[in-house]
Amino acid sequence: MSLAALERDLKERLHGHHRRLHHVYGVRDTALKLGKIQGADLDALRWAALLHDLTKYDPPTVQKQRILRHYDPDILSEYPEPLHHAFDAVVVARETYGIDDERILKAIESHTLGRPGMELTEKILFVSDYVEPTRQYPSCVKAREQAFINLDNAVMLIIHDTIRYLEREGKRIPATAYETLNYYQKAGD
Ligand SMILES: [Fe+2]
Ligand SMILES: [Fe+2]
Repeated sequence: MSLAALERDLKERLHGHHRRLHHVYGVRDTALKLGKIQGADLDALRWAALLHDLTKYDPPTVQKQRILRHYDPDILSEYPEPLHHAFDAVVVARETYGIDDERILKAIESHTLGRPGMELTEKILFVSDYVEPTRQYPSCVKAREQAFINLDNAVMLIIHDTIRYLEREGKRIPATAYETLNYYQKAGD
């Protein structure tokens, strides 16, 4: 499957979700900018960015069925439902697009909460998802500045804000979120 075919599918699957589609393009463009600075594999970033939210609007039951083909059922109870799409997109990336590059798969999987010790591709996608230009909250603007100065600091700011957001929303917060925060508090400056 080619990138052009994925772009066509993306437009179809996110038809009627224009803001999300612009978000995805924003994530890709930001990831490519950061990737050039950091010397990352730009092709891996392109695939990861275009795939990361591909199944976000698929019904939760459909997502869950697919997730269970590749993941332990504990994932479904540990992660709040709005975060399931990251795991689902990994399954679709493997099954529909034949992606077996672990850098791409891990980047998609970690894009919501990160994880300690992320690889460069993962870290760039995680940061780009939060700081792409359509996101204008003050916390995003601050993290965007940091992204071009110190990527680890940007990860720390983002996971901190994400935890606060999940707390405000009364959502379950998986242990991974705190593990990412602890790791990048130490890894930053
Ligand atoms: Fe997402
Ligand atoms: Fe996203």
